[in-house]
Amino acid sequence: MSLADRRILLLGAAGGIGSAIREGLAGRYGLMRLADIAPMTPAGRGEEIAHADLLDIPSLTAAMAGIDCVVHMAGVPVEPETNAWEQVLPANIVGVHNLFEAARRAAVKRVLFASSHHAAGFHRREAPTPQTLVPRPDSYYGVSKVFGEAMGRMYADKFGLQVLALRIGAYRERPSDPRQLAVWISPRDMVELVRCGIEAPDFGYATVCGVSANTRNFWDNSAVAFLGYAPRDNAEAWAAEVLAGAPEDPVALPFQGGWYCAKDFVGDPSRVD
Ligand SMILES: NC(=O)c1ccc[n+]([C@@H]2O[C@H](COP(=O)([O-])OP(=O)(O)OC[C@H]3O[C@@H](n4cnc5c(N)ncnc54)[C@H](O)[C@@H]3O)[C@@H](O)[C@H]2O)c1
Repeated sequence: MSLADRRILLLGAAGGIGSAIREGLAGRYGLMRLADIAPMTPAGRGEEIAHADLLDIPSLTAAMAGIDCVVHMAGVPVEPETNAWEQVLPANIVGVHNLFEAARRAAVKRVLFASSHHAAGFHRREAPTPQTLVPRPDSYYGVSKVFGEAMGRMYADKFGLQVLALRIGAYRERPSDPRQLAVWISPRDMVELVRCGIEAPDFGYATVCGVSANTRNFWDNSAVAFLGYAPRDNAEAWAAEVLAGAPEDPVALPFQGGWYCAKDFVGDPSRVD
């Protein structure tokens, strides 16, 4: 399919990552439809604005009309400090079911699902191994991402939807703590990862770790080489500055998910294998 024929829906387009994708891929495809519950700046060339709420299947289905690929970047992006389960439940559980169901009803071909490394944050920090793809959530937020991956896998197997789970690391302009020297993804690499996901040849279901070319990376993307994702940034450029800051919490330290693991943790971290 030529780039001019591609019709993309960016859901969560008003958010931090959504805005970077909007800007980074502006003008690349025949259509970039932008949807959110929050207001957005007016549509530019090749863009359309739609209002779509993860809690409302008809609004999602309408926003997906004629769309080939949905880029999901919507919902609750962190573990809330209080009442985490109650806050995560609507958009990240019910809403994610609605996302995939609307995609099925609208005959969308592909969904890029914004998952998170917190879906597997209780793995220990070690050399890259495919084992770290096994779910091991470190929070209710992480559980919601495991749920989304499972829902996507079911829609891929049962309905033939192509689903790419993006296990996004820590997205920001620059790493700000020692753990982020491993899990950071730069805005430029994030946009490139989404571009690769949109343009990759047909597949069924796959998981890719959304991480820059960090020297201290924990993760292995060799199984998804077909995506052609080649990150260019490396958190090591900030290592001296970051390591001069505060040391990590001793409970957070052994685990990939960092402070998400330490939050409300009971006992000694050595009990977690
Ligand atoms: N930022 C990170 O470091 C990071 C890391 C891992 C995963 N992620 C995931 O990436 C995605 C985007 O993260 P972000 O940092 O850009 O978050 P963000 O909060 O900046 O953006 C999320 C967007 O979703 C929209 N939204 C919320 N509820 C909605 C609903 N019911 N219907 C439609 N839209 C709704 C919000 O209005 C917002 O614009 C999230 O799913 C997050 O879990 C982010």
